[in-house]
Amino acid sequence: MGDSAQLFIWRNDPVTRENSRNGKLLEFTEHTQWLETALQNSDRQIYIAEFENEQIGVVRTDRIGDVLELSWTVVPECRGKGLGKKMVVGFVMEVLGSPSKLRASIRKGNIASEKIALALGLRSVREESGADGPPMVVWETRI
Ligand SMILES: CC(C)(COP(=O)(O)OP(=O)(O)OC[C@H]1O[C@@H](n2cnc3c(N)ncnc32)[C@H](O)[C@@H]1OP(=O)(O)O)[C@@H](O)C(=O)NCCC(=O)NCCS
Repeated sequence: MGDSAQLFIWRNDPVTRENSRNGKLLEFTEHTQWLETALQNSDRQIYIAEFENEQIGVVRTDRIGDVLELSWTVVPECRGKGLGKKMVVGFVMEVLGSPSKLRASIRKGNIASEKIALALGLRSVREESGADGPPMVVWETRI
């Protein structure tokens, strides 16, 4: 919970919201409730990545059956410097370690995230267009 305020700022960043399935602007109390619930959910893990003692991004995992769904974001000031790809690929190799079936939902046209998914060996499997959300593409481990 000590990182709650920082996570809230990154979650409400406009570019992060544009690329999220649920892009609504959150109130701090909603965010705090979400984080408290998330931290009690053994199927969900939230990691903050650091580089040179600075927090540079977040990776979240959700276990859904035999699939591990990944979400990621890089702190706004740290984007476009190669850190996102290193963070997510490094996370899968070093933190997850054992091979899992991975999934990521990426906003259609989010080239940087598509490149990260490709570096993880994922492929796009289907499009999901919610009624009020942006068009998303589901990427999964090749089998
Ligand atoms: C998407 C995001 C995680 C990428 O992280 P990043 O650190 O900015 O990306 P990187 O610098 O590691 O770049 C990864 C690749 O995408 C390319 N890239 C980065 N930004 C790009 C852009 N705006 N347009 C096109 N390509 C881009 C890089 O050149 C690199 O390509 P390469 O592997 O061929 O060298 C980060 O920009 C972000 O958090 N954006 C906002 C929220 C978001 O989109 N979250 C992801 C939801 S799935």
